[in-house]
Amino acid sequence: MTTEPDQQQRSAVDFNHHFLANGISPEDAYRELRNTCPVAWSEEHGGYWIVTKHEHVSTVFQDYKSFTTTRNPETPDLTNLSIPPSPFKIQVPEELDPPDFLPYRRLLNGVLSLQKVQEGPLSARARYWVDWHIDQVIESGECDLVYDLASPVIGAVVLEWLGFPSEDWRRISESFHDAVGYPPESERAQKAFADIAVFQARRITEEIAIRRRELADGAPREDAMSYLVAQKIDGEPMTAEMAEAMVRLLIAGGVDTTASGSTSTLVHLHQHPDHREELRRNPELWGTAVDEFLRRYPPVLGHGRTVAQDVEVGGCPMKAGDRVLVSEASACWDEDEFPHADTVVLDRFPNRHVAFGLGIHRCPGMHLARYVLQHLVGQVLVRMPDYLVDETAAHRNANQAGMAGWASVRATFTPGERIVTRPDRRTYGDRVEVTA
Ligand code: HEM
Repeated sequence: MTTEPDQQQRSAVDFNHHFLANGISPEDAYRELRNTCPVAWSEEHGGYWIVTKHEHVSTVFQDYKSFTTTRNPETPDLTNLSIPPSPFKIQVPEELDPPDFLPYRRLLNGVLSLQKVQEGPLSARARYWVDWHIDQVIESGECDLVYDLASPVIGAVVLEWLGFPSEDWRRISESFHDAVGYPPESERAQKAFADIAVFQARRITEEIAIRRRELADGAPREDAMSYLVAQKIDGEPMTAEMAEAMVRLLIAGGVDTTASGSTSTLVHLHQHPDHREELRRNPELWGTAVDEFLRRYPPVLGHGRTVAQDVEVGGCPMKAGDRVLVSEASACWDEDEFPHADTVVLDRFPNRHVAFGLGIHRCPGMHLARYVLQHLVGQVLVRMPDYLVDETAAHRNANQAGMAGWASVRATFTPGERIVTRPDRRTYGDRVEVTA
């Protein structure tokens, strides 16, 4: 019996990234697809393609003309960045295509460049918040690596930089974490969804309105929200709506991603004391190791795209309007690109991983993310060198569809001394007040 080529190529696989069969891990599920059907079609969620090989993921991410991130005009309240589309407020610039995309993206490139991160206040603040958060647990000899370190550190760095008052930082970074760490129907996740909704609908709007008034009064602050509202887009002042949409993305894209990468690295170093020792003895290894940890433990498993014009990927004909799940994580685990892909090779080079995506939407926060991950884990190795994870209590995120990582990881270590004695320098204005 012969099958028409189109039917053959579109014969569906049994795959649903939200509900992997029989408790199978994302690593195993994507490995099977890469080996059997690297560009696969699933009938779930109204039908979608799954792109799994490094080669094809790179192609799709770079071909922004054929694969759009914009919303469907018929369902404007739903983001197409996830499959199925979800009710999130629009995030800019990720949900724009060129040319509209470009002026917003340029603003982010300017404030988050490697030079800005390394030479500006961001790295100094990151070091401060790492020291401060380790201080809060160092005398007790126990902590949760997620809730005491990875999540609040990046929450403080990003939200302070943006200009939010300190009472928002821990609450919002925890909510973004709980939203993926616990089953969607659980009380904890529901509370997190509600908190994020209020934060996005009210707090961001309030803070942007304050920045716009201060700008009009000729007294802007030094924080990133003040910077954004002061910019012009194609010669016109930045609107409040677009400034809010950028702030939403910087928080949603920056906080739990970096927390996930930091925690996965700490768990790996608990499981591999030889790597822990190598990094302690030879810190220069971090130059390659930070990207290798992100390759082996990519925080983001996949992003959605919509086909804008008929196109072929890996011999599969995709039609305009088709939905596509592009798996950064699967590409990072592709044995054809990364020899011994399951193994962390601290000095792996070259390492063309796509944990930060590729093409026009490639993560502008990657320099900050690398800096925070490396500095936090590096300081844990210095100040809590014998930390041990309680493996019986550690559990992975319940919702592994989009964000990988650990919900909670308790650890014990030999107690040490606090080191933050210097006063908190208020680098971004006058609203930083944190007490131990
Ligand atoms: C380890 C941590 C991080 C990972 C793994 C990560 C991953 C990614 C990925 C895969 C994309 C591409 C999305 C797409 O193509 O649709 C992206 C975009 C983005 N990320 Fe990150 N990210 C991280 C940290 C950060 C940080 C710290 C920030 C800023 C504070 C940030 C801000 C953004 C923004 C604004 C975009 C959208 C860029 C655009 O559309 O042009 N990310 N990130």
